[in-house]
Amino acid sequence: MSAPSARSQLLRRKPVAEFAREDSGLARRIGPLQLMGFGIGATIGTGIFFVLSTAVPEAGPAVIVSFVIAAVTAGFTALCYAELASSIPVAGSSYSYAYATLGEVVAYAVGWCLVLEYAVSSAAVSVGWSEYLNQLLDDTLGVRIPDALSGAPGAGGVVNLPAIVLVTLCALLLIRGASESARANAVMVVVKVAVLLLFVVIAFTGFRSGNLTPFASMGVAGISVAASTIFFSFIGLDAVSTAGEEVRDPRRTLPLAIVGALVVVTVVYLLVAVSAVGAQPAAEFEGQEAGLAVILERVTGSTWPGVVLAAGAVVSIFSVTLVTMYGQTRILFAMSRDGMIPSLFSRVDARTLTPVRGTVAVALFVGALAGFVPLDFLIDLTSMGTLVAFTVVSIGVMVLRRTQPDLQRGFRVPGYPVVPVLSVAFCLYLIAGLSGTTYLLFAGWLAVAAVVYVTYARTHSKLRTTGR
Ligand code: ALA
Repeated sequence: MSAPSARSQLLRRKPVAEFAREDSGLARRIGPLQLMGFGIGATIGTGIFFVLSTAVPEAGPAVIVSFVIAAVTAGFTALCYAELASSIPVAGSSYSYAYATLGEVVAYAVGWCLVLEYAVSSAAVSVGWSEYLNQLLDDTLGVRIPDALSGAPGAGGVVNLPAIVLVTLCALLLIRGASESARANAVMVVVKVAVLLLFVVIAFTGFRSGNLTPFASMGVAGISVAASTIFFSFIGLDAVSTAGEEVRDPRRTLPLAIVGALVVVTVVYLLVAVSAVGAQPAAEFEGQEAGLAVILERVTGSTWPGVVLAAGAVVSIFSVTLVTMYGQTRILFAMSRDGMIPSLFSRVDARTLTPVRGTVAVALFVGALAGFVPLDFLIDLTSMGTLVAFTVVSIGVMVLRRTQPDLQRGFRVPGYPVVPVLSVAFCLYLIAGLSGTTYLLFAGWLAVAAVVYVTYARTHSKLRTTGR
């Protein structure tokens, strides 16, 4: 057989039928409600607890509009994810969808974007966890973990031990089993939604319509920048699609869970945003570290809300870390099965039916990042990786409709092709709002990916002999 040309290597696609033939060895034990919990669990986390202190100074009370823009973007992309997840219900999420629609090199790049969205973001949020844990310990027991042990070098410490503990706990839970993890996550989801709803109810009692004027003091530009900032809080809905090989009746369950999680998250966030800007003048948000707690303390005149919100944040971030680490292991599982990365990531343990070695490897990587690197500055990079993956998924819907119009789809994007086109447009709009530094870091990340592709993935790809 003659060697495939470089062009055909880069563009080779994995046939949808081949995904269906693969037996993962993972167990199908997750039901629709638990899966919806995955979506909410991965999405409501650190973002909503601190984003207003950055976004309100950018947009003024019109931050409500920014939330709507971020929600619409997340909504359009969630519908696109729902269609592809119901057509290609496999573990790799957007990496696999890109492999089936746009070819190997795009899929590979998306795989690297997903490392930003999942591994890097779980490390970033677990860094935040140690801050809230310290606050909670201080508020309840009057003790704090010493700075040296609760911050990375460069952030005033030696090691961020709580972040490493969190990552270890999540890894242990994930190794026990996907459905055990889903059950633990469901409990945490109920707690965090309840805490945020408590915030909403109390904040509305302090609502003053005067706080909403002037409404858009920073103009349209401010609203756009704030929408890009807020988008981080909506990241996570697509984690649902990484469970494609572990849910029962995936063609129906996946779209249902994605759309259900989107609705819950959007309603909760909009209520939080409206009640918060109604309860506190816009000028006072800037620099508030525990912004939501300050609002409640002002409305109630007592300090207990700080404790409740810190506890809510501790639980929230736990479940974000759990589900994003889960998603990362499943994406790497799919990449490994395709030969893009070493095979240890796709070995399933016969007893727990989970990829134990892959989970340990992810935990070591995330734990090392969380423990020793101050990651806050990487949050925008996470948004960049996610938005690029979302763009590719939205384009993928259109490509698959064209190339395989008769494929069995459990869900079809309504308003096709307007919704996927708008989805691409909104993602690009939010990408445009990110900083030049984020662009540079992202370009560097893709350059590293390109080197690894040329030196490893290209020649190890399972499709290398076919040249499809
Ligand atoms: N959406 C997740 C959060 O806000 C990443 O923490």
